[in-house]
Amino acid sequence: MNEQQRKEQAQIKQVDAADRKSGQEKPLSEKTSADFAKYFETTYEPPNLNKARKRGRDKVNVHYDFAIPEDMERIGEGKKFLIRTYGCQMNEHDTEVMAGILTEMGYESTSDTNEADIILLNTCAIRENAENKVFGEIGHLKPLKLEKPDLILGVCGCMSQEESVVNRILKKHQHVDLIFGTHNIHRLPHLVKEAMFGKEKIVEVWSKEGDVIENLPKARKGKIKAWVNIMYGCDKFCTYCIVPMTRGKERSRRPEDIVQEVRHLAAQGYQEVTLLGQNVNAYGKDFDDITYGLGDLMNDIHKIDIPRVRFTTSHPRDFDDRLIEVLAKGGNLLDHIHLPVQSGSSEILKKMNRKYTREEYLELVRKIREAMPNATLTTDIIVGFPNETEEQFEETMTLVEEVGFEAAYTFIYSPREGTPAARKKDDVPEEVKKKRLYRLNELVNKQSAESMKTYQYQKVKVLVEGESKKDPDVLAGYTEKNKLVNFKGPKSAIGSIVEVEITEAKTWSLNGVMVENTVEVN
Ligand code: 5AD
Ligand code: SF4
Repeated sequence: MNEQQRKEQAQIKQVDAADRKSGQEKPLSEKTSADFAKYFETTYEPPNLNKARKRGRDKVNVHYDFAIPEDMERIGEGKKFLIRTYGCQMNEHDTEVMAGILTEMGYESTSDTNEADIILLNTCAIRENAENKVFGEIGHLKPLKLEKPDLILGVCGCMSQEESVVNRILKKHQHVDLIFGTHNIHRLPHLVKEAMFGKEKIVEVWSKEGDVIENLPKARKGKIKAWVNIMYGCDKFCTYCIVPMTRGKERSRRPEDIVQEVRHLAAQGYQEVTLLGQNVNAYGKDFDDITYGLGDLMNDIHKIDIPRVRFTTSHPRDFDDRLIEVLAKGGNLLDHIHLPVQSGSSEILKKMNRKYTREEYLELVRKIREAMPNATLTTDIIVGFPNETEEQFEETMTLVEEVGFEAAYTFIYSPREGTPAARKKDDVPEEVKKKRLYRLNELVNKQSAESMKTYQYQKVKVLVEGESKKDPDVLAGYTEKNKLVNFKGPKSAIGSIVEVEITEAKTWSLNGVMVENTVEVN
């Protein structure tokens, strides 16, 4: 934990909903959530990381009765919304849900902040720099809010689940009207109404949540690839990670609801779905009436007529033989597996509470390769975990080589308030961490470039997503193994899977030309 975070944490006082007495007047800088509670006559429920950490035995209830209340169906007519998204695919997909809800309330989307009547920042809490970006953006939006007092400015997503963030916004960014958490998305119509007609700020962050809300509307970005949530939350409690607190306990959607959603997407012409969860391999573990896991779900989705199916994110610990057996069937189940390892040192993995050793990870990779000889593996790695030694870092480097990862998301460890690792004293200087990250990135780049070279003059299948950002005459899309391909071809190919011959291999992308008459008709 850094000095700034420590200072902020010291100012937090837990407030229960019942405890809403007004405080004595004191300087703004000394106020805590309790002092602000009196202003919230409508909704005030502050976050609480301690409550969020606890897991109860409550049954997961699935609600199928989501509906926009009648008096809010037209509340947004003639008005526009803008949602800015930070962080992972889960957040991107939550944005699609919020956009769906606002659209059903009559709002239209805009990408121009000056045009917007409601601006939501859907935030990420995973590293400190993600949070800093959001605070920068909140500051930038102040003049606009002062100019347009009716603008509703909201902060949601993972950062809203943290007390320190909510207190900092309440203290220093009083132009924010609305703060709501990851478990409160379905409450958006009510929250918007309160923000519109109430005079006070709205804070609603449920810390402990065990339910699944179905039937939420979704305004998906694009008509080619879609995200599908299969589960929510995480019970793994890696010592560095804030997610189990910001996203709650593991709870799976019922298989029939997922299968129906994928079928529906296939019928609409979508070419690819990515099944989403913080830890998808734990899918189904919370069912008490059926024995049904990710392997079973993939087996059922395998039978649906949709060309490509991916899933993310995996945890090596729960990656079982049944899943490997099903993935080996191929077809629409792609053999690109993102398998975060985090470190190559068993000692660091233990301190991270990852629940596997270097050897166990390598054994899992061996099993996957045995069943799927052409599988591509990518990963996430954290360098500079508290007190990581040079030798331990070297073990990460050798593991990267041994597995032959073709890509990796690499990060310097960032202490997150409320996590066990943040309480550890850390003697690794920042400079050393930066050097380790640099060395690791060099190695990953080298491996990526080598894997790209193997595609030279080969034909690959590309799902064409659109024009290249740099040159509208060039089309761009991804291969089955998620390699970006830029190529010349007709615009009519957008939305289809076509064959492309690779002419040039770069470090992170491939260039090529479309092979004539290969557009697959779907
Ligand atoms: N610091 C740095 N990286 C982190 N990640 C998660 N928490 C932290 C943290 N505190 C990384 C992990 C995870 C990815 C999504 O983000 O590698 O897999
Ligand atoms: Fe960031 Fe994790 Fe929240 Fe995704 S779930 S937005 S990665 S903190």
